[in-house]
Amino acid sequence: MIPDQTVDVNGCVFTHQDILAVVDAFYRRVETDALLKVPFGSVEDWPEHIAKLTHFWWTRFGGKSYMDVEYSPPLKHYRAGFNREFLSRWLSLFHQTLQEKLTPDQAKMWKTIADRMGEGLSLKNDMMIERFGPLRDTSIPI
Ligand code: HEM
Repeated sequence: MIPDQTVDVNGCVFTHQDILAVVDAFYRRVETDALLKVPFGSVEDWPEHIAKLTHFWWTRFGGKSYMDVEYSPPLKHYRAGFNREFLSRWLSLFHQTLQEKLTPDQAKMWKTIADRMGEGLSLKNDMMIERFGPLRDTSIPI
């Protein structure tokens, strides 16, 4: 069931609908972006991906979990061929979407969090490349 509560991130309030509006508009852009549609070619079910990522941000912002799902972003991104060029494009589209869909305060807060997560993913991805090599190989048993 989709929650009707709000989440409060350091004094900045988001409804579930705010989060869904951003995630939905963002991945519609990703789907047709010349650069990002390549790694995102692995996504077979976009509505499911959008639902999963909406839940991801909702729970990261402190909302109660309502889906039975586990996330393993470093591994998924390594397998998707994550790199800094993709990240820079991802963040640029994400920032544009935040500005369009949210108030300036909400957009600023979420941008700070997304930038930080991007940096964290990059560092973890560098460690995985060092360990397993720069492969986009889903057969690696890790
Ligand atoms: C701050 C930046 C990013 C955040 C916060 C983020 C977050 C996430 C999360 C939480 C998932 C779900 C992971 C799971 O199911 O365990 C995901 C999936 C995915 N991400 Fe990202 N992501 C970011 C950047 C990128 C970039 C730059 C790429 C380009 C390679 C990318 C490609 C993907 C793909 C292809 C999936 C789907 C993987 C699958 O379900 O097989 N992401 N992302």
